[in-house]
Amino acid sequence: MRDEPLVLGIETSCDETGVGIVRGHTLLADAVASSVEEHARFGGVVPEVASRAHLEAMVPTIDRACETAGIALADVDAIAVTHGPGLAGALLVGVASAKALALGLGKPLYGVNHLASHVAVDQLEHGPLPEPCLALLVSGGHSSLLRVTDITGDHGDGAGVDPMGATIDDAAGEAFDKVARLLGLPFPGGPHIDRAAREGDSVAIDFPRGLTSRRDLERHRFDFSFSGLKTAVARWVEARERSGEPVPVADVAASFQEAVCDVLVRKALDAAQADGIEDLMIGGGVAANSRLRAMAEERAAKVGVRVRVPRPGLCTDNGAMVAALGSTMVARGRTPSSLGLPADSSLPVTDVLAS
Ligand code: KG4
Ligand code: ZN
Repeated sequence: MRDEPLVLGIETSCDETGVGIVRGHTLLADAVASSVEEHARFGGVVPEVASRAHLEAMVPTIDRACETAGIALADVDAIAVTHGPGLAGALLVGVASAKALALGLGKPLYGVNHLASHVAVDQLEHGPLPEPCLALLVSGGHSSLLRVTDITGDHGDGAGVDPMGATIDDAAGEAFDKVARLLGLPFPGGPHIDRAAREGDSVAIDFPRGLTSRRDLERHRFDFSFSGLKTAVARWVEARERSGEPVPVADVAASFQEAVCDVLVRKALDAAQADGIEDLMIGGGVAANSRLRAMAEERAAKVGVRVRVPRPGLCTDNGAMVAALGSTMVARGRTPSSLGLPADSSLPVTDVLAS
């Protein structure tokens, strides 16, 4: 279908330089260069290191994406870019690159929200997103439940992307990373906990489920809290070490992961049912977690909710997700962003497209 827009998307909000190319909802290229190894010894992403790595990786990654897609830059119909939220310096590299391309090629520019892109990416795998749907967005920096009635945002008709709840402290991915560190596993911790947990017993330790007591539910029915869980794991590990016993890493990983997934899935299904929404989409880096995916499928089936989760490679940060949202903007005739587009490190999830 030649009349579908060819969109190039750029993602630089954290440590991945992502360039994706889509035609409509068809993925043509998903080139990612990660600087994660440069951050590993610091146990977290170092913003200045990430910005420099984006600068070096940008042009080669664009070239690689075009080559894979078999297109020339001049063929592209629009440029989309993450303009927030994320690390300010890192975002700036992507935004400046996208502006240069848009200006040089004479093509429209769409400054889009990173979080909404994590939701929009699923269209590349499972086709158009049902609207309304409920999105459980779980990444390294955010954990929220979103009611999605228009993935392109609010265009004056009241539809858009609206938060029903969010974490009141750590994000789910942050909890995975901190607990991994406690267990001596490398950064980023999520995939390592996921792997270690496969050998462990998920009911070995009864870790707390944050904000699930009756009293908490009155005020925080759809909110999350993971800092108490992280502290509980730290105390449990410390007690073991003090008593001179070995720490059963696999059991701790499995029991911790079970606690996180239990709360995420429980609250997501509660929100879906409370709102009469039949489709649950799970996105963001933590959506790559094998236990979360399995548990969501299993429990959702029991209450008649359909689950959509992109394949793991599309859950973690990439450029295809930005291209996917950009392509939806073009298809729905949204007004492109101005070339004065700023990077906005604390962009709210409700602001899907920059003016
Ligand atoms: O969405 P993302 O790639 O970047 C942000 O926007 O933050 O998410 C990164 C987060 C990290 O905290 C990482 O540990 C976590 O996603 N993650 C996982 C898994 N893969 C990545 N967490 C649990 N299980 C995984 N398999
Ligand atoms: Zn992300």
